[in-house]
Amino acid sequence: MFPSVNPERTSSWDQLRKHFDAISKNSLLELFKEEKNRSTELSIESDDFFVDFSKNHIDQETVRLFESLANECKLTDAKKALFSGEAINQTEKRAVLHTALRNLSNKPMEVDGENVMPFVFAELDKIKEFTKRLHTNKVTGYTGKPIESIVNIGIGGSDLGPFMVINALKRYWKPAIKPFFVSNVDASHLIEVLEQVDPETTLFIIASKTFTTQETMTNANSARDWFLSHAKDKGHVSKHFVAVSTNQTKVVDFGIDPKNMFVFWDWVGGRYSLWSSIGLSIACTVGYDHFEDLLRGAESMDHHFENSPLQENIPTMLAFIGIWYNNFFSCESQAILAYDHLLTHLSRYLQQADMESNGKYVSRTQEQVNYQTGPIIWGEPGTNGQHAFYQLIHQGTKLIPADFIAFAKPSHTYQDHHDKLIANFIAQTEALMTGKKAEVVKEELLKAGKSEAEIEQLLPHKVFQGNRPTTSILIESLTPKSLGRLIAMYEHKIFVQGVIWNIYSFDQWGVELGKQLASSVLAEIKSGTVGNQHDASTKQLISRYLEINE
Ligand code: F6P
Repeated sequence: MFPSVNPERTSSWDQLRKHFDAISKNSLLELFKEEKNRSTELSIESDDFFVDFSKNHIDQETVRLFESLANECKLTDAKKALFSGEAINQTEKRAVLHTALRNLSNKPMEVDGENVMPFVFAELDKIKEFTKRLHTNKVTGYTGKPIESIVNIGIGGSDLGPFMVINALKRYWKPAIKPFFVSNVDASHLIEVLEQVDPETTLFIIASKTFTTQETMTNANSARDWFLSHAKDKGHVSKHFVAVSTNQTKVVDFGIDPKNMFVFWDWVGGRYSLWSSIGLSIACTVGYDHFEDLLRGAESMDHHFENSPLQENIPTMLAFIGIWYNNFFSCESQAILAYDHLLTHLSRYLQQADMESNGKYVSRTQEQVNYQTGPIIWGEPGTNGQHAFYQLIHQGTKLIPADFIAFAKPSHTYQDHHDKLIANFIAQTEALMTGKKAEVVKEELLKAGKSEAEIEQLLPHKVFQGNRPTTSILIESLTPKSLGRLIAMYEHKIFVQGVIWNIYSFDQWGVELGKQLASSVLAEIKSGTVGNQHDASTKQLISRYLEINE
C-alpha cells in the first residue's frame, strides 16, 4: 500500500505557498507577456484531445512544484497500487479496478492474486449476445412482440453514468430502441416513464450494485406491479425484467431468474461502474460496438494516465490545477462548462464522481484534515449558462475556475450554429481572462454619446477586471471513443486529487446516516407515531406530515 502523507507537511506545499504569494501578484495577461511560448508550453495534445492550461494562474515553476508535491505524496506508488488491484479502498477492503473493465488489450489484471479479465470478458460477451438478440428483434415480450423500450431503474452510479452517456451519444441510437430512466423515489418519475411505454414491448433493467437501495427497489416493485396489472401472469416477469447487480441472492429474492442477471464485482465502485454491465442500457441503446468504443476510449486515457510524464499528463495537470485553486486560491467550486447540448448531463454525472469521491474530511490516517478537500462541482452547457450564471463568474466576488469543453467538429450538419457555439466557447475564456479596462469602457460610452454624469455612473458597472482562470478542453468530435476518454480523464483527475489530499476516494460513508434516519422516520410515518429520539424541529415536521395525511 502506498504511504499516507499529509500534503500540508511536505516541503513542496510550503514552497507552493511562497510561490502563490509571488505568482498571484501577476495577472494572467502579465504571465502571457512574460512567457513568449506560454500557450504552447502549457498545452497538451493527446489523441484527439487538445487541452490548453495556459489561461490559468500557473507557470512552469507551479508545475514543477506540483510535480515535487506529487512525488512527496507518492503518486507513482498510488498509481501502481490502483492499476495492480491492491485494496486501496481500505475502509471497505476493496480493490478499485474499473480500469480492468476497459482493459480490452486483455493484459492480466489481478484482484487477490486472481486474474479478473476472464470474468470481465465473459460479461462483455453476455452483453454482446443480449444486445445482438435485442437488435435483431429476438428479445420478445409476453405477447411475442419485440422489445422496443428499455427502462433503466437505478440511482446514483447505477443511473447517472449510463443516463449521461446515452444522452451524449444520441446520434448513435438504434432507431428501434427507446431508452428511459427512472431514479427518483418520487413516483412522478416512474409515472412519467410508464405513461410513455407499452407493457408488451418494455424491458426493465433493474440496476443496483447492492440490490438493496430503497429508491431502486421501490421503483422496481412498482414497475413490476404495473407490468403485472397488464400481463396478469407472474410467469411473464422473466421476459420483461433483467437485473444488473453484484448481489445474486437479492436478485433471486426479487424474482429475477439468475440467467437474466448481468453481474459485476465489489471492486467496481458504483460511481465508476458505467463501464461494467451497469452499462447494459448503453449497449442496448447505441449497440454493442459503440459501447466497446466507449471502453476503448477510456482504455486509451488509462494508458495516457499511467504512462505519460506528469507535466504531459492531462488528468494529472487538471488535478494539480484543481488543488492549486482549491487550497491556495481558496476557491470553493469548480465549474464544468460543456459547449455541447449533448453533454447536458455531464456536470451532474461529475458531481457524483467527484463529490462522492473527494467530499471527505477524514484523512487516510484517521485524522480530521485541516486543509480543504473536494470542491463543489457544478455547471450547465454553454451557451445556456452564459445567459444565466456567467454574470457571477465575470463580475462576482468569487473566483470560479472553469473547465470549458467543446468539440471542434459538430455532431450535426448545422455548421453555422456550430461556428457560433465555438465562437462563444473561445470568446468566453478570452473575456474571462482579458476583462475590459476603464479606458476602453469610457471610450465606448463617449462614442455612444453618453454625458460625463452618465459615464461616471455606468463606468464601474461596465468594467471587467478579468484575470479569471479557465482550462480549455478542445476535442475533435463527440464519439463513443472521445466520450470514454473524457470520462476516464475526470476519473483519474479525481484519483490524483484524492491521493494528494490523503483521503479515501473510493468509499462513501457520508451517505449512510441520511439513509438510516430515513428508514427510522419512515417506520414512524407508517405507524403514525413520532419517536422521542428526535429534536423538536424533526418531531414537528413528522407530526405535521401525519396530521395533513390523516
Ligand atoms: O447513496 C450512494 C450510493 O451508494 C452510491 O454510491 C451508489 O452509486 C448509489 O448509492 C446506488 O447504489 P446501488 O447501485 O447499490 O443501488
